[in-house]
Amino acid sequence: MDHKVETLISESEIQDRVRSLGRQIEADYHDKPLTILAVLTGSLIMLADLVRRISIPHRIALIQASSYRGATTVATTLVINESFAPDVANRDVLLLDDILDTGQTLTALIRHLADRGARSVRTAVLLRKIGRQEVPIEPDYCGFTIPDVFVVGYGLDFNDDYRHLPYVGVLKEQEVVRDTQLQDS
Ligand code: XMP
Repeated sequence: MDHKVETLISESEIQDRVRSLGRQIEADYHDKPLTILAVLTGSLIMLADLVRRISIPHRIALIQASSYRGATTVATTLVINESFAPDVANRDVLLLDDILDTGQTLTALIRHLADRGARSVRTAVLLRKIGRQEVPIEPDYCGFTIPDVFVVGYGLDFNDDYRHLPYVGVLKEQEVVRDTQLQDS
């Protein structure tokens, strides 16, 4: 597969931003029992970079959230798999996701963690797409705001490819369409 990816956010821009988010988080969570809970799989690369910029003690955990659209309805159901997530009761949880799109995933996860007894829940995202949000949620920490385009790289994927790219880029639309058609046939 030889798709063309146009750089939207360079590796050095990402590294600078992650460093400054790390400093902010460090200051905000000083003396708090912080757990950074990363949403699989898209936030893994950011997690690895971010935690190495945070020098206060903190725990790292993972959670999986997959949305399924019913065959006869447009409603989506979010299935949460927390087998890799430790107990969050009385912890200050920072949920880390790759991108805030409609906002459904983070909203559902915040509710879920509150039910599990988290002391506080905040959110951090690498990217926020403008013009797509369906539920009112403001990320507490946001790397970059991007237009409504499909992006890959730095953890984000298209059919599980491109996650390894050290930058965020836009997959050329005709390539995405062609690939989707191949898969459907
Ligand atoms: P919601 O809509 O609940 O979902 O905010 C966020 C999830 O949607 C996926 N997503 C993308 N993944 N490139 C991707 O690789 C994109 O441009 C994109 N937009 C949304 C992603 O899994 C994210 O966690």
